[in-house]
Amino acid sequence: MNLPDFKIARSNNKIKYEKKEYKLNPKYLNKYKGKKCYLKTYGCQMNEHDSENIKGILELLGYTFTDNMEDADLVLLNTCSIRENAHNKAFGLLGRAKHIKETKKDLKIGLCGCMAQEEIVVNTIMTKCPFVNFIIGTHNFYDLPNILEKNEIEEKQEIEVFSREGDLIESMPIDRTSKYKAYVNIIYGCDKFCTYCIVPYTRGRQRSREKEDILKEINTLIKEGYKEVTLLGQNVNAYGKDLYDNYSLAELLEDVAKTKIPRIRFMTSHPWDFNDNMIKIIAKYKNIMPSIHLPVQSGSNRILKLMGRRYTKEEYLTLFHKMKEMIPNCTISTDIIVGFPGETDSDFNETLNLVKECKYDNAYTFIYSPRVGTPAAKLSDNVTKEEKEQRLYKLNEIVNTYFKENNNKLIGKIVPVLVEGISDKKNEYYGYSDTNKLVNFIGVDVEIGSIVDVIITDAKTWSLDGKVSK
Ligand code: 5AD
Ligand code: SF4
Repeated sequence: MNLPDFKIARSNNKIKYEKKEYKLNPKYLNKYKGKKCYLKTYGCQMNEHDSENIKGILELLGYTFTDNMEDADLVLLNTCSIRENAHNKAFGLLGRAKHIKETKKDLKIGLCGCMAQEEIVVNTIMTKCPFVNFIIGTHNFYDLPNILEKNEIEEKQEIEVFSREGDLIESMPIDRTSKYKAYVNIIYGCDKFCTYCIVPYTRGRQRSREKEDILKEINTLIKEGYKEVTLLGQNVNAYGKDLYDNYSLAELLEDVAKTKIPRIRFMTSHPWDFNDNMIKIIAKYKNIMPSIHLPVQSGSNRILKLMGRRYTKEEYLTLFHKMKEMIPNCTISTDIIVGFPGETDSDFNETLNLVKECKYDNAYTFIYSPRVGTPAAKLSDNVTKEEKEQRLYKLNEIVNTYFKENNNKLIGKIVPVLVEGISDKKNEYYGYSDTNKLVNFIGVDVEIGSIVDVIITDAKTWSLDGKVSK
């Protein structure tokens, strides 16, 4: 048994990890042939991508997948810790699984992902959820075949969670959700330790993948017909800092652009690590999409300082405008937290003013959720729940008007769209533009997975309508 420990996760020791190639012990191959797994994924793209690896591993063991929990032999929850409601959803689903297990004694129930890394969650499961068979952490989830076997032999709750970062595993099996768009990890973990954020504890310290491994993966994806890669990391702009002296996200983006993959995206960016060279490279290559996610979190310098964000509103705005000037047609989206402990009306108004200046193309807005073990959770908070809800409502009203306003400007314009599927209506397709906008459009015999020019005929808050341009 290995239990999570936030003190270890926080400690500043230089981490030592090895790069290893994934190898499945042949004794596990098809061991569970005929068994079905219900895999539920919560949270961010990183978790979605981990689930693609989990699927790949379980398929080698012989599992198939079902959307119906009642049919499953294994219920596996890939969980998220970012806000309390993510916790609540996962515990709700565990309750459903428990109910099924009452009449299906052989059902195995497992939990992985960020919640597995939290002491408080693991303690709750150990004391209150004996029906959970195993918990496996973010640093060792690839060890699933071992934990499943151990669980059969020992018939007790298995908890294998490491607070120190594990090895960096290359060539993991994978079953990707899309045939055209692929996630590619470039950096794991985060060293920023923003005071509200649990990610550095659940995902560990910053560890970059070697550039050769990233480029090899992308070249394979090109051969397989992929049209778009999203370079993933909690803070992609810190790429390379732990590995190289003179190779950063800018150089990586340039090397990926030269592979000629039609579309490159990357997320998430921290303003602190975004430099001019990166902006120049994004502007230079047509296959790097002009769409950047640049979380601001707050427009108040006082709150930004309390959040430990390492930039001021003025510095953020300088970067924002530089991007808009240097990258043609660039759209910028953001994340904003309202109701951080002690946020006053005046702090909140500064956030609204910043939003009015930036007129974002998209914004993910949240009410602050205290995460046990993070520094912000210890701050006293005199903002009521009602006030926080009102602020969120007001903020959403304003950001939504800009989404619509920006979309309106595209009416009559031609935009390239990567076609992802057919909608329920006849001859109607959908896909995403270069600037990451959802486009529903009319066409005849359009090839899924191709990039087509679409003329925009109408704009909504969250999407655009159009037809294939002849
Ligand atoms: N409460 C609310 N929102 C949070 N985020 C991260 N931690 C918290 C928290 N404790 C938001 C941030 C981040 C996004 C992924 O989630 O805005 O950018
Ligand atoms: Fe969390 Fe992002 Fe800050 Fe890292 S940079 S601590 S992931 S909010």
